[in-house]
This record gives sequence, structure tokens and C-alpha cells, in this order.
Amino acid sequence: MGYKNFINAIEIGKKIMKEYVKAGYIALDCTIGNGNDTLLLAHLVGKEGKVYGFDVQSIAIEITKEKLEKQGLEDRVILINDSHEFIDKYISQKLDFVIYNLGYLPRGDKEIKTEASSTLGSIKKVLPLLKNNGLMLVTCYTGHEGGMEEWIAVRDYFKNLDQKEYNVLEFNFINQINNPPILYGLEKKDRRV
Ligand SMILES: C[S@@+](CC[C@H](N)C(=O)[O-])C[C@H]1O[C@@H](n2cnc3c(N)ncnc32)[C@H](O)[C@@H]1O
Repeated sequence: MGYKNFINAIEIGKKIMKEYVKAGYIALDCTIGNGNDTLLLAHLVGKEGKVYGFDVQSIAIEITKEKLEKQGLEDRVILINDSHEFIDKYISQKLDFVIYNLGYLPRGDKEIKTEASSTLGSIKKVLPLLKNNGLMLVTCYTGHEGGMEEWIAVRDYFKNLDQKEYNVLEFNFINQINNPPILYGLEKKDRRV
């Protein structure tokens, strides 16, 4: 029998999503890929909620659209075939929850991957849109070319965020070999209280 609770960064992220995202929430998936997170979010926000999703690859949009349609969830999801660094062109609404699963599409073109500069550019635009007590999850991969640089850029940016505005947690499997993904969980403080 394998592990049931601390399996990997993706599963920990899913647990947090299921615990936090409620009906009526506005969520954003910045890296749609095969649509797994988008689909889960679409279920969790319910018919009163909304999910925005970005991916630079049209194949990711098509795969996800098909999955959503099969489950009758397409009306609550807006899929955007563009880089998440241009989020300000598409979204001005405040967000309850944001997720980034960085890197490349599994079983897809490994050359099409997130990059440190556009990822940071996107995160910087998304943070002001996050509601008070809103959450952001970012999974970083260090094993592929450019992955380590991207992780360091994200980690250093998060490390320097003012704790009067944000709390950031790092989930890192410190005894695993082969560069396990590292998950960051960020919460925006409610400055009214
Ligand atoms: C690890 S995959 C995401 C997996 C996805 N969360 C899932 O549930 O299947 C990363 C995705 O990010 C996309 N991507 C790369 N650069 C991007 C960018 N600048 N903006 C938006 N998506 C990007 C890739 O095309 C790829 O589909």
C-alpha cells in the first residue's frame, strides 16, 4: 500500500482546493493543460460560480472544452487561449482562488512550457485581483530545462512578500529523490480586520 495523505504536490493542492473552494466562488486556473484542475474547480464553484482558465496551447483548450461539455459544466467556465501574463486584458473581476501548475503539458510538447519571466509577470498581475483571504496555489517543477530558474524566481518573489499582506507556505518533500514538485500556498490577508 502506498501513501494516502502526503502523496505529492498535486494531491495536496487538490485537498486544499476541495477544502477551500465553495459554491459561488470565482476561480482562475492559469495553466489549464489537460483540464484536471479546471474540471475540479468547475464542480466546486457550482452553477453560481465562475472559472477562468488560460493556456497558450489550443490543444489544451480543446481537450478541456470537451471534458467540460461531457459533464455539462461549460457554461460556468471561460477558456482563454493566451498567455497568463496577459490576464489584465481579460479579467478585472476579483478572485477567490488561483492555481498555477507550472512546466509543460504531460505527454505534450515539452518545449512549450511556462517561463520564469512570464510566470512572475502573471503572478504580479493576479495578486491585486485576489480577494481578502483568497488563496493562490503554485506548483513548481525543477527537473526540466528552465524549471530550476523558474522555481527560484517564484520562491524568491514569495519570500520577499510583506507578511502584513500575504502568508506563504512551502510544501516540499525534503526526503524524496528526483526533484519532486514544490507547492506554494499563499493567502492574502484581510486588512480590514
Ligand atoms: C503542467 S501543465 C498544466 C496541467 C494542468 N493543470 C492539468 O490539470 O492537466 C502546464 C501547462 O501550462 C501551459 N503554459 C505554458 N506557458 C503558459 C503561459 N505563459 N500561459 C498559460 N499557459 C501556459 C502549457 O501549455 C501546459 O499546458
